[in-house]
Amino acid sequence: MTISTDIANTIIDPKAYADGDRIDQAFAHLRREAPLAVAQPDGFDPFWVVTRHADILEVERQNELFHNGDRATVVTTIEPDKKVREMMGGSPHLVRSLVQMDNPDHFAYRKITQGALLPQNLRALEARIREIARGFVDRMAEHGDRCDFARDVAFLYPLHVIMEVLGVPESDEPRMLKLTQELFGNADPDLNRTGKSVTDVGEGVDSIQSVVMDFMMYFNAITEDRRANPRDDLATLIANGKINGEPMGHLEAMSYYIIAATAGHDTTSSTTAGALWALAENPDQFAKVKADPSLIPGLIEESIRWVTPVKHFMRTATADAELGGQKIAKGDWIMLSYPSGNRDEAVFEDPFTFRVDRTPNKHVAFGYGAHICLGQHLARMEMRVLWEELFARLDHVELDGAPTRMVANFVCGPKSVPIRFKMH
Ligand code: HEM
Repeated sequence: MTISTDIANTIIDPKAYADGDRIDQAFAHLRREAPLAVAQPDGFDPFWVVTRHADILEVERQNELFHNGDRATVVTTIEPDKKVREMMGGSPHLVRSLVQMDNPDHFAYRKITQGALLPQNLRALEARIREIARGFVDRMAEHGDRCDFARDVAFLYPLHVIMEVLGVPESDEPRMLKLTQELFGNADPDLNRTGKSVTDVGEGVDSIQSVVMDFMMYFNAITEDRRANPRDDLATLIANGKINGEPMGHLEAMSYYIIAATAGHDTTSSTTAGALWALAENPDQFAKVKADPSLIPGLIEESIRWVTPVKHFMRTATADAELGGQKIAKGDWIMLSYPSGNRDEAVFEDPFTFRVDRTPNKHVAFGYGAHICLGQHLARMEMRVLWEELFARLDHVELDGAPTRMVANFVCGPKSVPIRFKMH
């Protein structure tokens, strides 16, 4: 089955994600009419679009049959894909992080940082993270009764946390924020490097590549430092990590830092900003959490489902397969639509309603299987600590103008969330 050109063009349109309703309607239509079908938007190779929760899990469960690294892991048009392969000696990837790897490499590289990011090892960081959260709550109070929660709190707090965990000094945080926004906001003229709508293919790849180069230059220096002066941080684990007894490759090490430094805050920032937006629009939900802070973990899961900041990842079939009643051929490219899975009516009652006490809440926003988000426990912990600190002082919140979203089709969420609030 083939998806209509109109819908196919919508699901890759960065502006449709910024609009919100437009993308929700496109996916609702697909779940109803064509839950597993082929899209071929203008300028793209065809790809399957997986929109049902059950089918997303089915693909993610079988990571030998559905590979990450064989083709681009993020949907991309034919021309930039060609350009990247020319630049990278045939590889479809500009970086080689965990996301682009399959076994045996994926397992070996993931093991290097996985232990440090488990809940029992993160516990030691909680007191420090609470101190950071309190600092942001104090700063919010200093704004008086109005602020842009996205820009003034949500973008900065997870950035500060991941940079401490990674080992990047505070003075370099603005640079990391800018580079991350340029990378994920490449299609957004407010955020990208050129300040223009990206219309030219070559320009788009060049600007992403120059951002990647800047990241690499920065982390090269960090690697040298941590080899000479090991510390208790993720950068030290990456700089000194060994694969089969050998130091990890340069591209792999650089890519490891980049994914931790980018995936490690933009996603959590979007979720935090989107949560406050939803609470401001749903005073009954705000009142529930205020009256019973034991609902904070529920608020967190619901806001991750609600925002779903990672909009998709791609997989490639390594053999002919059957999925959701369709025949997939070896080499087919497959889009896992996390926002669609998280609004699947077959799994979530009233999926378009924000409910802090939704149970169960088996969202797929962190993915599933071998590649499931490495930072999920850190993300949950830092959000819990922030909400505990904020709810202890925040008495009222409402929107103070219309929030906006980033223009992007990969990792994105709110860009601005103006609020009026009362704190004590
Ligand atoms: C992978 C979402 C926070 C690091 C992923 C994936 C998703 C995701 C959907 C792909 C999973 C898959 O392919 O099955 C999120 C969301 C977050 C978040 C929604 C916050 C609400 C973080 C944080 C870190 C992080 C704080 C910091 C360390 C990573 C890494 C991977 C990853 C390294 C690649 C894992 C692999 O391929 O093995 N994340 N993430 N993420 N995430 Fe997160």
